[in-house]
Amino acid sequence: MCACSRRRWSLRHKLGLWWYILNMNRLLIRILLSLTPAFGVSALDYQNDILPILKDHCWKCHSTEEEAKGDLAFDDLKAMAEIHVADIGMIRPGSPEKSDFLARMKLDEEEEDFMPKNGKALRPSELTKIEQWIRDGAVIDAKNPTAAETARLDAAKVSEAFWPWTNLQGTVIQAKFSGLAGEAVKITLKDGRTFTVPFEKLKPESVAQAKKLGGAP
Ligand code: HEC
Repeated sequence: MCACSRRRWSLRHKLGLWWYILNMNRLLIRILLSLTPAFGVSALDYQNDILPILKDHCWKCHSTEEEAKGDLAFDDLKAMAEIHVADIGMIRPGSPEKSDFLARMKLDEEEEDFMPKNGKALRPSELTKIEQWIRDGAVIDAKNPTAAETARLDAAKVSEAFWPWTNLQGTVIQAKFSGLAGEAVKITLKDGRTFTVPFEKLKPESVAQAKKLGGAP
């Protein structure tokens, strides 16, 4: 064996190591995603968890079977998915506190906008369930998610997961990805503090991770 073939072997060996590291990274990302809570399999869904509550309290005014006051029928699943659950709709996926639908049920019974109109407030356990459903991404049918729902859940998984970030000094911290800001990445620590870290302060693999999560070319 001459020295050259040994060198070639060691190059192949090195490539193999890189390939291994890359795949371990991919595996790690997959494990991280599968560990993120709330979204996915265990999420509440409208058909099974929420509709029965609305049937109890809202049916005579908001159903295709009875009346659709305010042009709102809770059993019209298509309208629910396409109109009412939206970033500017009455149900804002991921943000129960911005959802008019829930806000009206939480009003004082005397208030004009209170729902169910002229009725009794929902039980706290029912309101909590509705709140959780909206926080989980407000999916209508978990077994048959629409393309928009799937995209929403995937985006939520990415922003809820903790990723490793390495600075040039080699220090690693775990933080959520909260978006790109020009040549920098916004990350959020477990305690909720958000930082904007310039790419030039990060190791290349962390820069690559930020760009990938942010969908940058
Ligand atoms: C007795 C009839 C009645 C019942 C019961 C009732 N509603 Fe309503 N609802 C109305 C009327 C009338 C309107 C339209 C006027 C308004 O917006 O206040 C309305 C409007 C709404 C709107 C606003 C729609 C929009 O496009 O802005 C929401 C949200 C709503 N209802 C939710 C509910 C929920 C949730 C329940 C059950 C917990 C419920 N309602 C029960 C009569 C009712």
